[in-house]
This record gives sequence, structure tokens and C-alpha cells, in this order.
Amino acid sequence: MSLEKQVDLFANPFRPGVGHTPPYLAGRTKEQDEFRKLLNQKAITENVILTGLRGIGKTVLLREFEPIARHAGWLWTGEDLSETASLTEDRVAQRIVTDLSLVLSPLVNKQQMEMPFGFTGKHAKTLQPFEFRDLWNIYEKTPGLVQDKLKAVLRFAGEVVSKGPHKGIVFAYDEAQNLSDHAKKDEYPLSLVLDVFQSLQRQPDGLPFMLVLTGLPTLFPKLNEARTFSERMFHVMFLGRLSVEESYQAITKPIEDDKCPIKFTEEAVAAIARQSAGYPYFIQFICKESFDVFLAKINDKQRPSVPVAEILRKLDADFFSARWDNATERQRDFMQIAALLPNADDGFSGNEIVQQSAEVLEKPFSNSWANQMLAQLSDLGFVYKKRHGKYIFAVPLLSEFILRQHRQGLNLPPPFGDST
Ligand SMILES: Nc1ncnc2c1ncn2[C@@H]1O[C@H](COP(=O)(O)OP(=O)(O)OP(=O)(O)O)[C@@H](O)[C@H]1O
Ligand SMILES: [Mg+2]
Repeated sequence: MSLEKQVDLFANPFRPGVGHTPPYLAGRTKEQDEFRKLLNQKAITENVILTGLRGIGKTVLLREFEPIARHAGWLWTGEDLSETASLTEDRVAQRIVTDLSLVLSPLVNKQQMEMPFGFTGKHAKTLQPFEFRDLWNIYEKTPGLVQDKLKAVLRFAGEVVSKGPHKGIVFAYDEAQNLSDHAKKDEYPLSLVLDVFQSLQRQPDGLPFMLVLTGLPTLFPKLNEARTFSERMFHVMFLGRLSVEESYQAITKPIEDDKCPIKFTEEAVAAIARQSAGYPYFIQFICKESFDVFLAKINDKQRPSVPVAEILRKLDADFFSARWDNATERQRDFMQIAALLPNADDGFSGNEIVQQSAEVLEKPFSNSWANQMLAQLSDLGFVYKKRHGKYIFAVPLLSEFILRQHRQGLNLPPPFGDST
């Protein structure tokens, strides 16, 4: 087959992006097995939190969970929780009722059609199809607080489900770290969700609903702050980097195809695995760039290689710079000090930054400044708090990016001279 034809038949398969299904989903089998087990609970006492750094593969894995749940006999509903959807209790309630109506309406309609003689035949034709409005009526007609109203709707849903073949309903919410209580506005949407689900699940005839929340590492501390029982209510899956073997699979499997015009050399695969450090987004990004480079060099007599320095420059411009530019100069100084610490990637304390800043800055940070700074950076999504007062960068490989900028500022030679 001619090269042109081959290129036409096989487009670059790598997909760096937000929630883009990868050409090959590497690893994550342990998490899928855990989820399968949780779906087998007799009464739901453990819900799921899927958490991890930006670009680690939370959205993609959440999407993998859906067919697993359906296969196990569950219904699935849910959404991406944008900030606006989650501001008030009313809006969150409306969200849940809307999501519920999507899975419930077909069931209720089916059950109405199958009702015993008297409701079938001619009458069935005149029956109004069940829809969101009907559920919302239950909500509105129930006296009491938002919580009582939502519980009434969910109890109704429980009855409908119990008459059918399904085991229950999974409510899956992505970007759930956006769900926050706002004491100043007297709005507690996060506590509302936790209270409602916990109380319905705890009853003797516990309703078959499972919450699957996905979000950044700030999510779980936030839930615990809102309700201490959250710790017992959720099984937390912390998604980490891919292992070396899984990284190799993510790099090589998508191009293991006779139609693929290129093949990465062993050195190239090793270089991509090393530079991406097992972070899925970076694997997709570097592979996509490398694929194009290999394709362009296909007619050269030389063995093509991964131009690491150029790709890193592009990654800095495409991925890191936009985030970095959101920080103030003082915040950047602060993060630079953190990145210079030998334990930058394992967790650092405000105190360590204060000490380091005394050595390198003319105007060092005080303790209270450092704490304020860490809180601001946490809100901006640059760092998150681990246990024991240690912080960690919430954006993968951010410390390396900062050090690259630092070196450039000092006019030092680029760190990655090789182009293997
Ligand atoms: N297991 C995997 N194997 C290979 N590629 C993956 C894997 N998981 C995710 N990716 C790729 O990584 C990128 C990021 O995935 P995803 O958007 O799911 O991350 P995320 O954790 O939801 O990020 P964010 O915190 O920004 O929402 C996507 O391009 C996706 O194709
Ligand atoms: Mg996501």
C-alpha cells in the first residue's frame, strides 16, 4: 500500500484533551473491579469518590463505569456539575430531579402500559406520558424543606424501580468539587446531597441509589468538612499515575495496527514514558506530537526521534502557561520557592517555604503570609492540602514547569538537552 494511502487510512489516534476517550485505556482495572464489587452491595452503604489530579483520567474512567453499571443491572444518570448548576439548594434539587426523570420516565410509562385490565387498551392511549413535570409536582406538593421534597421524589423513584428488573440507580456527578456550601448565603447544597442520600440509604429498606462523585483532590476534604459521616459513606478511589508498563501500553497499543504508517522506536517509547511520568494527559499530548514528527520524517533515511525539548515547549505554551498566567507575581514567587524545595513533589509545608524564602528572597514570606498564600493557591487549584499540614501541587508536573521557567529567567541552558 502506498504511504499516502496508509496516512489517509490511519489518522493520528492520540487524544489529549478534557474527557476525550483515549484510543487505548491503560490500567485502571483495579478501580473497575472495585466498582463492580460495590455494585453488588445488598444495601448501599458505600458510595464512590473518584479523585485525582487534573488530567489523570477521572472523567474517562467515570464513563467506563457506566457500561459496567448497566451490565450489572443498574440504571445510570448524572451530569457534569458546572458551578452554576450547584450554587443553591434549589438548583441542585432541580438537577437531581431532572436527571431522575430521564431514567424514570421510560420505566413509569412502561409500567403504565402494562397495568392490569382497566388501564390498558383504549385507556392506555389516553394516558399522558410521564415526564419531568410529574416528578416536579411531587417535589412541589411535598411540604417542608428542600430536603423533604427531594426525599419524597427519591422515595417515589425507589418504588418505581422496585417494581421493575433494575437493581437501582447510579447518580454520577463529574467535577463535584464545585458543589459547595455557602454559609454566608445560607445555602448548603453539598450538605443537602449528603443528608438526603445518607438518610435514604440508612433506612431498613435502604433505597437502591448509589452516588458516584468525581473531582479534584479538594473534593473529599470538602465533603468531610460539610458532614463528618462522609468518611464512612464513601469509598475513595484515588487515581494515580500509570505504571511504567501501563504507560508503555498507552503509548504503543493505539498504533499496533497494520494500517498504521509509523512505529515508535524503543528509545522513543522510553522517552515518552519518562517525560510524561505516567500522567495520562501528558502521554496523549507527547504521543500526538511525536506521531506527527515521525510521520513527517518517514522518508528520511535517519531514525526519527522524539524532539523532547520542542514538545515540552509546546506543552508549556498549551497547557501550563494559561494556568501560570492566572497567578499574581507574588503567588508565582511563592510557587517557585515551593518548586525549589527538594520535597516539592512529595508535599511541602508553609513553614518550609518561609525558611527557604528567607534564604533566596529579599522580602521573605512570613508565616501568616505563607498560610494566606497557600489558601489562595488552593482556591485557584494550584495546590491542595494533604494530611498533616502538607501541601502538594494539584497540577501534575507543575514543579518541573516552574523550574524550566526559573532556569530560563536565569538564562541557564535548557534542562532537556537530549532529544532521544
Ligand atoms: N487510562 C488511560 N490511558 C490512556 N489515556 C488516558 C487514560 N485516562 C485518561 N487518558 C487521557 O488523558 C486525558 C485526560 O483524561 P480526563 O479528561 O479523563 O482527566 P480528568 O482527570 O477528568 O481531568 P480534569 O481534572 O481536567 O477533569 C485525556 O486525553 C484522556 O484521553
Ligand atoms: Mg474531568
